Amino acid sequence: MRQKIVAGNWKMNKTLEEANILASEIMGMVADEVKGDVKVVFCTPFPYLLPIKNMLGNNPRISVGAQNCSEHESGAYTGEVSAAMIKSINVPYVILGHSERRQYFGEDGKLLAKKIDVSLKHGLTPIFCCGEPLEVRERNEHESLVKQQVEESLFHLDAASLQKIVIAYEPVWAIGTGKTATAQQAQEMHGVIRKHIAGKYGQQVADSISILYGGSVNAGNARELFACPDVDGGLVGGASLKSREFTDIIKSA
Ligand code: G3P
Repeated sequence: MRQKIVAGNWKMNKTLEEANILASEIMGMVADEVKGDVKVVFCTPFPYLLPIKNMLGNNPRISVGAQNCSEHESGAYTGEVSAAMIKSINVPYVILGHSERRQYFGEDGKLLAKKIDVSLKHGLTPIFCCGEPLEVRERNEHESLVKQQVEESLFHLDAASLQKIVIAYEPVWAIGTGKTATAQQAQEMHGVIRKHIAGKYGQQVADSISILYGGSVNAGNARELFACPDVDGGLVGGASLKSREFTDIIKSA
């Protein structure tokens, strides 16, 4: 049985006071209602990881994640945060390869493979993002690009390591635009990713990996998206900053 995950990517938003209010409101609304098999993850800005984690206490259903980490182990990399540091504060998840980091910070498949390796070395669970820009889809090259993104950053792993990865398919044209992929489009691409993994690692390994959908998930479309056989939850941006809407999304999983 694959882990169902609803992760909120807060991106670069909220003050500490606002973050505490958001997290406590969501906790109050979902703590007892999250279905036993749904994991909720708050991917907060770095400064809030520890205070939010401490607020969550030992709630087994709600956790926290970082939004990035360095590919370096440690050293003279001003401003960077290492996987070891994230692990040292017992934060289990880390988003890697988000399209905004690929676009604004030049992250490519080779660099992300290094980030995957150092994250796994320190026992983190990477949420590895892939997805095509609109112009690639319009050229009908979205399947080949996403398969290439998965190959470049994940296919050096052995099966046991790959099974520690969560994948998030986030079509770039759906991120922050309100133009959500249809359930059919999401299922199609999740199926492509899973089939590609099965081709290299076998169906059992492929079937064990959670693949989340991200890109304008909201309370109105989450249930249909999450009902798709190869959609194992969501990576939610804007809607995760609204406690009531994010709670409704969680309940849709
Ligand atoms: O990582 C999730 C994020 O990129 C999706 O953003 O605002 O379209 O839900 P949004």
